[in-house]
Amino acid sequence: MNKIIIDAFTWRRAVKVFDTTKKVSEEDLATILEAGRLAPSSIGTEAWKFIVVTDPETRGKLREVAYGQQQVTDASHLIVIARRTDVESIAPELIARTAKAQGKAEGELEGLSKMASGGIMGKPEGAVRDGWLAAQTYIPLGMMMAAASMIGVDNAGMEGFDNAKVDEILGLPEKHLASVTFLVLGYRGDDAYSQSPKVRRTIDEVVERV
Ligand SMILES: Cc1cc2nc3c(=O)[nH]c(=O)nc-3n(C[C@H](O)[C@H](O)[C@H](O)COP(=O)(O)O)c2cc1C
Repeated sequence: MNKIIIDAFTWRRAVKVFDTTKKVSEEDLATILEAGRLAPSSIGTEAWKFIVVTDPETRGKLREVAYGQQQVTDASHLIVIARRTDVESIAPELIARTAKAQGKAEGELEGLSKMASGGIMGKPEGAVRDGWLAAQTYIPLGMMMAAASMIGVDNAGMEGFDNAKVDEILGLPEKHLASVTFLVLGYRGDDAYSQSPKVRRTIDEVVERV
């Protein structure tokens, strides 16, 4: 096994108590955000936004609607990962950026266009489609967590918050966004949780070969 990767992922814990005096550098933050930007998504939808919340007052309000969890205010950085709600715009934008990146005319991408429109708009409106778009956002969440762990930045995903209230505080509905998870970044402080043994199922419980 690759020791660098496995050591980093073993070290990673869902830190509860951050050292409030330590800040993640702009360079490390950029690396982590870039890892999220490079995440793949079904059809290439990239139907997400990473909102870096820097205003302390806003972070205080977010903590209140996150069961008072101290990580929300005490971590060096708080990133809210949101899914897009303007579903009808996702496929046309995908075609436009694919054409631009690959130097093609949009007309040449008819197959992709049909697949994207069908794949997105063909999903039942409501919980099924929203759930599918929300599921996509866990891919950049995971990749950002992996990237942070590899460079020694503590990180934790969080979904213990009231989504509707978070959306209201950040004005997300007007931006056609809906919150899915938080990602907190920083450096562990005197955190008893991080020192407790890590709990995981064994490899034989997790992997089945058929
Ligand atoms: C998507 C997601 C949401 C989570 N939400 C919370 C949360 O709101 N509060 C919290 O203290 N931990 C939260 N956790 C942490 C998990 O409980 C933790 O990752 C899990 O128990 C494994 O522990 P470890 O990450 O320390 O190895 C979340 C983890 C993930 C991946």
